[in-house]
Amino acid sequence: MKRIIIQYGGTGDLALKKLYPAYEHLMEKGDAFEVIALGRRFSTRDEFLSEIIRKDAPSSFTDHLDYLYYDMSGNNAVSILTDRLKALCGESDEVEFIYYLALQPSLYEIAIAQIQQVDNQLDCICFLTKKIVVEKPFGFDLESARRYNDILEKAFTDEEIFRIDHYLGKEFMQNLLLMRFHNDIIRRIWDNRTIESIEIIFDETHGVDQRLGFYEKIGVVRDTIQNHIMQIITYLTMSEPATLTPKDIAVEKEKVLRAISPIEEFHMGRYESLGANSGHIVHTPTYAAFKLFVNTYYFTGIPIYVRTGKMQQEAKSLIYIKFKNATKQVMHDDSIAENAVIITIHPELTIDISMNLKMPNTSWKSKPVRFRFNQSETFGANTPEAYEQIVEKILQGDKSLFPTMQEITESWRIVEPMLKDNLPVEVYPIRTLPRFAESLAKENGFTWFD
Ligand code: BG6
Repeated sequence: MKRIIIQYGGTGDLALKKLYPAYEHLMEKGDAFEVIALGRRFSTRDEFLSEIIRKDAPSSFTDHLDYLYYDMSGNNAVSILTDRLKALCGESDEVEFIYYLALQPSLYEIAIAQIQQVDNQLDCICFLTKKIVVEKPFGFDLESARRYNDILEKAFTDEEIFRIDHYLGKEFMQNLLLMRFHNDIIRRIWDNRTIESIEIIFDETHGVDQRLGFYEKIGVVRDTIQNHIMQIITYLTMSEPATLTPKDIAVEKEKVLRAISPIEEFHMGRYESLGANSGHIVHTPTYAAFKLFVNTYYFTGIPIYVRTGKMQQEAKSLIYIKFKNATKQVMHDDSIAENAVIITIHPELTIDISMNLKMPNTSWKSKPVRFRFNQSETFGANTPEAYEQIVEKILQGDKSLFPTMQEITESWRIVEPMLKDNLPVEVYPIRTLPRFAESLAKENGFTWFD
């Protein structure tokens, strides 16, 4: 069967930075598929290739990469796409179209309507199967997500729809589940009897950069909190699924999302503009910090503190799980540190367990020491990028790395109060932590893990 990925947003940031490298690796590994990039930036394939594809890209990739100047609002958009797809199908009698929408959510409606028309015209030329891939954020808020979904589900079956959150393709996410559910010792300590608090820190050094046009309409809540952060929370706190199959995992994740209490102490900021002449004046929030609780039996009472955003001094992505420290009282020694599990995602994937052990040449003095797992030291540096894993699953028709519509709906419900227009937005100088993130920690009696 011939497989063709129809790449909407084919000259956009996501396609260039993440998708084309993923396609290239998969094709090099031997996965057979064609890609047709749709865009308005270039008029010809040659121009597209010479402007944005690496000069030394292997022919195993470029031979399978086509380009079509495509203006969705043009009068004859549908017939232009239909003709090109017909040509790509050639004489094949079995073809799969994978429509990949890397677009602003507001363009979904028109894209899907056009896809339906293209499909109708092509159905007769061969045996046609189809899939549709939609990028995050899916929708703009709860109402629009439901509306887009209705449109999507009228045109595609659930099996054919792949809703993306590329964090599910990340090794650390998959490791979280295995670390929790393949280790008896971890299972026994992973609940509110033992855990005191959780910090999730996602600081990025870059700004919105070339994505300004997209990001301005989105902002930090839709960009990372509604999706990546909510998914991380589900993986950290879900109960054991009956099996590690997509359906069973989804059941448990949905329970967690439904148990999340209203967000507390929420604050947002945007970084100071880089100057009128830089073309980089950001009006939308780029940083946020807040606290929430997952009110399930085993997690209620554990505060989860989140901070996430752009233009920070240091790129730091980590999850800090702090355990209760009864030992301090029991041993009458305030210097005894708490135990902790630290999952670092950036700059490299490591998992540390912090324990107190004896300092040599002391009389009963302990010091926290770390036991470390380092992904690349243990397994080599060849772990596939998230998007590679995601695209591979799409090609295979395996839905294990995709959030369900119920998860997406619940996540919108949780973040909806943070989307109101009239919320205050603090301006923070670039490379500094917004003041509200410091205050959140201070008011809750902790300091962010460093
Ligand atoms: C994307 C967001 O989904 O995730 C970006 O749109 C963010 O703003 C990015 O920078 C972070 O992903 P990663 O894979 O670089 O951690």
